Amino acid sequence: MTHPRHAAITGWGKALPPAVLTNHDIATFLDTSDEWITQRTGMKERRVSHVSAIELATLASSRALACAGLDAADLDLVVYGGCSNEETVPNSASGVQVALGAANAAAMDLNTACTSFLYGLSAASSMIQAGVVRNAVVIGVELISRYLDWSNRNVAVLFGDGAGAVVLQASDNDEGVIGTVLGCDVESRQSLRVRGMGCGYAGRNITFGDMLWDFDGPVIFRRAVRAMSAASTRVMREHGVTPDDIDLVIPHQANLRIIESVARDAGVPMERVIVTVHKYGNMSTATVPVSLVDALDEGRVKPGALLLMPAFGGGLTYCALLVRWGQRVTPLGESTMALPPCDKTALELVNDIRANQDPHGRSMAGLMAPVFAESRAAESAVDGTQGGDVGTVREGDLAVSGQEPGR
Ligand code: ACO
Repeated sequence: MTHPRHAAITGWGKALPPAVLTNHDIATFLDTSDEWITQRTGMKERRVSHVSAIELATLASSRALACAGLDAADLDLVVYGGCSNEETVPNSASGVQVALGAANAAAMDLNTACTSFLYGLSAASSMIQAGVVRNAVVIGVELISRYLDWSNRNVAVLFGDGAGAVVLQASDNDEGVIGTVLGCDVESRQSLRVRGMGCGYAGRNITFGDMLWDFDGPVIFRRAVRAMSAASTRVMREHGVTPDDIDLVIPHQANLRIIESVARDAGVPMERVIVTVHKYGNMSTATVPVSLVDALDEGRVKPGALLLMPAFGGGLTYCALLVRWGQRVTPLGESTMALPPCDKTALELVNDIRANQDPHGRSMAGLMAPVFAESRAAESAVDGTQGGDVGTVREGDLAVSGQEPGR
């Protein structure tokens, strides 16, 4: 059997919750302002979901399948990219599989934080090129509102919920992902951490949902720009592409100033950069696929266009993909699926979440206790021991965020 040479993107779809949270809404419960958020991030509003991440992912996938004219039964693979999981076992991809009726598909979750969609696009394209599968749906989805620390203005203003998806199909046409750079900044693991999610917190008297974010915004900012710019330059150089050849940059949307810096470093003018951060905030892994769908809807993706997609995420993972678009830029069909109506405002949804998140009642001892794997491993390397005593608070673990516990 000869393997297909390419994995074409034949379908695309997004799912945005209807409830819109404005900067002014956030200023009703945090010491912040529309002016500060707009100036420092470029964000004006974001969405808050009244449904689960699996429902958002299913709707985006259903729209992508209709766009491609492909039956769910013909899918070989569902990739669920993101870190908002209903449960860990079973995984979330299998939930989407069931909801779509994709009975013949494998189902895989992939978490590299905000880069999960692009890592998934790279992985699924490679699996198609290797002949492992022929038809795949790759999803970027996040439901951050449920695990945001709404008492911390450093993070609460930045994020939003949403989902985007693409359908990949084996093809002999020269299109799809044509270049990939993937990486992880080995020095920045501690700059972004959501305390309270994961096995390290088991048995520590923590209520799930009482999250505490370690978030060093300025460090992430600098390293994100450096990593995305370097990855973009490298992927272009390795594939003999110059900035003039790039028709559109569709970057991760964490901050308008980050996007502008990466575009400048990559040598592409802002007229050729897709910006959605003002209307959706940072939807983590969903930002790139949703921005892609918006660009297609607005007629900005031309047949045969060359797209550059750089991103970064917790880890800090980073990547830059080059995608050659095919000839079709309009959907073949439309899905009949829709989200159930939402009977609350976004502010009411957030206030419901806040009511269950009591920053004063948090188990700070439990949230601050874990000695993280990288600290134990580093210690073992230095003194040859098995590492630290789980339950001890390490100075290095706490100092990173520069924020007081519980702020
Ligand atoms: N409202 C008002 N003031 C605020 C707010 C807020 N929401 N947040 C912080 N401030 C204050 C700070 O307390 C500080 O005050 P001080 O000078 O009195 O101490 C001041 O504003 C400046 O704070 P900085 O953190 O230096 O502000 P900066 O200009 O760096 O902007 C931001 C912060 C927006 C977080 C920026 O650093 C950033 O975008 N970082 C990277 C973005 C990011 O990490 N995104 C998500 C990563 S996850 C992902 O996408 C994978």
